[in-house]
Amino acid sequence: MASHGDKKVALVTGANRGIGLETARQLGKEGITVVVAARSLAAANETAERLKAEGLDVFPVKLDVTSAEDRAAAAKAVSERYGKLDILINNAGVGAEDGMFAGKTIETTERELQKVFGTNVFAVVAVTREFLPLLKKSSAGRIVNLSSILGSLTLHADPKSPIASIKTFAYDASKTALNAFTIHLAAELKGTNIKVNSAHPGWVKTDMGTEKAPMEVVDGAKTSVQLALLGGDGPSGRFIHLGQELPW
Ligand SMILES: NC(=O)c1ccc[n+]([C@@H]2O[C@H](COP(=O)([O-])OP(=O)(O)OC[C@H]3O[C@@H](n4cnc5c(N)ncnc54)[C@H](OP(=O)(O)O)[C@@H]3O)[C@@H](O)[C@H]2O)c1
Repeated sequence: MASHGDKKVALVTGANRGIGLETARQLGKEGITVVVAARSLAAANETAERLKAEGLDVFPVKLDVTSAEDRAAAAKAVSERYGKLDILINNAGVGAEDGMFAGKTIETTERELQKVFGTNVFAVVAVTREFLPLLKKSSAGRIVNLSSILGSLTLHADPKSPIASIKTFAYDASKTALNAFTIHLAAELKGTNIKVNSAHPGWVKTDMGTEKAPMEVVDGAKTSVQLALLGGDGPSGRFIHLGQELPW
């Protein structure tokens, strides 16, 4: 098995655009080797070339997070090349079918629920399961789940909260379920070197966040990067935006 010594290795899903691309870039600038995972090999290769041209140490892998075959092949490739994984950023995600602000809860179709939960929840659990043996080989494993403030039940239940009017059921509930995964896995891994946290990136200018979003992507990646680089005394099992805790 290959050994990558002390140099940290991170894997970012959905690294070809948006917050994932910027997270890969910022981790690379920290001197971390970044496995850029994208749904197609062409997108992964293109992203890797782009980041290599910026002087970063990157390695492309094809990883449609919903594909068991891709997940197994990606973990095998990382294992053979590096023998471990220090940071897993579960960034890939999909939004609501009709945009983020148009949802009618009772009209949410089963097809949409399957699709959104398939990517935002089931695939995250499966990707994490696949890479956990490699994370256990790290002296300081970090798992970052890209959640959203829209997954906060506390804020949705408060009619006065800033998100109270944004009720996009399939997406919101998928991030609530993802937060449950964060809490459960963090509890299971308590006492190990692995920390698991949920990140709310902010409302960020990406294809999903749209041009209306107030945050630039460079800032939108910061929460993921901070949680990826947490020291041994950092939190685990928390829901965080730019260093601030959010209510579940
Ligand atoms: N932007 C915001 O304001 C905001 C706010 C809160 C939370 N978030 C969360 O932050 C994360 C990143 O969002 P973003 O704004 O950067 O979204 P984005 O611009 O829409 O990019 C989504 C990324 O996920 C990838 N992806 C989707 N399904 C995939 C699959 N089955 N396999 C592999 N990759 C897949 C996409 O790949 P393709 O190019 O192949 O489609 C793309 O790289 C998401 O989890 C999102 O829910 C975003």
